[in-house]
Amino acid sequence: MTWSDLTEWWLDEIATDPAYDEVVTPMLLDVISPKAGMTFLDLGCGEGRVMRTLAAAGARPIGVEMNLDLARRAATSGPIAAGSLPDLGFIRADSFDGAVCVLVIEHVEDHGRLFAEVARVVRPGGVFGLVMNHPYWTAPGSSPISFPDDELLWRPGSYFERGTLLEPAGDQEIQFHHRTTGDIVESASSAGWSLERLIEAPHHELVDQAGILRLLACRWRLLP
Ligand SMILES: C[S@@+](CC[C@H](N)C(=O)[O-])C[C@H]1O[C@@H](n2cnc3c(N)ncnc32)[C@H](O)[C@@H]1O
Repeated sequence: MTWSDLTEWWLDEIATDPAYDEVVTPMLLDVISPKAGMTFLDLGCGEGRVMRTLAAAGARPIGVEMNLDLARRAATSGPIAAGSLPDLGFIRADSFDGAVCVLVIEHVEDHGRLFAEVARVVRPGGVFGLVMNHPYWTAPGSSPISFPDDELLWRPGSYFERGTLLEPAGDQEIQFHHRTTGDIVESASSAGWSLERLIEAPHHELVDQAGILRLLACRWRLLP
């Protein structure tokens, strides 16, 4: 199953789940604070939701997307390059004030190379805003357990077991690459990124489980 087969599922997700507007977008704006005129790469831009958020703040986004159906839709929100991450070889060095990557890095196998590529195309002093499913959530075996009386608990997965797993996406499946929070921070640091902010959000649906980590967002600054 590839992202090319998940277009309809993803369009339905963002149309029906209020979490994207209520949780994901505020986390992104919290970590990047886009300013008018700033140029941003939106890595894995989907149908352009994040590009529209950046443009509304006066920033100038350019999307990168490998699913051509989604890329065509995003093209109504700004310029798009068709490409498969982590490769950004088609972009000149030091071309952007910043980059954002929202709910994408967990689908990219080589996250270390992604941090290195983004460090190459963003100018020194620029920012990288990342929002992702929390590694606590993507750990193999991490899942809800429901009981007959409707109580819902959370089973923590094998957090330290790195690897690839398939999760349901409608009637299909989606591939996640699980790594720990430490893996993410170390890869970014090795590529020259300095961590300025890290925020975590709980699961928005499990009202009795407010301690369940669901999303992670970071702002990195590229060291000069
Ligand atoms: C969960 S969606 C998020 C879309 C968008 N960032 C948003 O928040 O609305 C993941 C997106 O990443 C894209 N994607 C996944 N792996 C990719 C890769 N290796 N290169 C480029 N795009 C990728 C998918 O096609 C999809 O559009």
